Amino acid sequence: MRVLVTGGAGYIGSHTVLALLERGDDVIVVDNFANSSPVSLERVARIAGRAPQVHRLDVADAAALDAVFAAERPEAVIHFAGLKAVGESVAEPLRYYSENLGTTFALLAAMQRHGVRTLVFSSSATVYGDHQPVPYREDGGLLDASNPYGQTKVMIERILEDVAQADPQWRIALLRYFNPIGAHESGLIGEDPRGIPNNLAPYVAQVAVGRLAEVGVFGDDYPTADGTGERDYIHVVDLAAGHVAALEHLRTRDGIRAWNLGTGRGTSVLELIAAFEKASGRPIPRRILPRRGGDLAQTWADTARAESELGWRAQRDIVDMAADSWRWQSANPQGYDSE
Ligand code: UFG
Repeated sequence: MRVLVTGGAGYIGSHTVLALLERGDDVIVVDNFANSSPVSLERVARIAGRAPQVHRLDVADAAALDAVFAAERPEAVIHFAGLKAVGESVAEPLRYYSENLGTTFALLAAMQRHGVRTLVFSSSATVYGDHQPVPYREDGGLLDASNPYGQTKVMIERILEDVAQADPQWRIALLRYFNPIGAHESGLIGEDPRGIPNNLAPYVAQVAVGRLAEVGVFGDDYPTADGTGERDYIHVVDLAAGHVAALEHLRTRDGIRAWNLGTGRGTSVLELIAAFEKASGRPIPRRILPRRGGDLAQTWADTARAESELGWRAQRDIVDMAADSWRWQSANPQGYDSE
């Protein structure tokens, strides 16, 4: 299949591009490299033994995107491109709404013009807001989010519902990711956040490698077993396989549907730090800090729908995730800039 991937040089995008190349798909990447490095795609090509077509452009640039669709003739699209930092979205809501919605409108218009009606969209568990009990189920009710980044995911899901309602030719998968961590087992590609990481796993990895001094643990007074927040961490290679499974499933399913991509298990902040200590063989200094505003005590996925309908389930556990993150981080202490 010819698959166009927006944001294909990013963390989840690059692992998904690799999975598609490895199963024989032709992959067309569209990326402006605003928050990613082209080196990731060179590494993907090294691992796969074949390369994606790469177009450096902004998805919101309608004329340039049109030219790519005309030249490359994709049959399906996976849409990763977008801004994703929760705190930044609170500070700069207009930028988040205009970029995340604007790129999606431009993409949908191009797909419509070129008769492409199969779309896999990068959504997030953040759409469950703080109203629903764990484990989160796809049909759990009203979607909501506590920050502008999350609201863009809720809004895009709703827009896509309307698009699918209006034209039954659309086939759309909404993939709600839990907390992606880990890296490809080669250690050649992985997460490479710009600046100080916002998320726990890259932060811990950078402490282990000596780039940062200590991890701040945001609260140890939650109603959880050890008092720290619990999340459903999912290995990025499993997540990439979830996209391939969704794309396959869309061959036989019309309309729109959401699937959770998680493991169904919660891991605490202290458990994750312990897993990285074991993987790296190094002590990881930590300090207990007050809770971070907007954080929930516990989130994890109900994975039954993805298992029964997509035939997909996560294969890798926290030990694998920490080992693979560490292999990437220790071989590339400055991320892709290490080259
Ligand atoms: N945490 C720390 N110290 C840190 C960073 C995080 O203790 O330096 C804790 C948090 O309080 C939380 C856990 O580690 O308990 C995970 O935090 P992350 O920031 O890694 O991830 P979140 O669950 O807050 O958010 C992630 C993504 C969002 C997405 C959300 C969906 O960053 O984009 O999952 O559930 F919306």
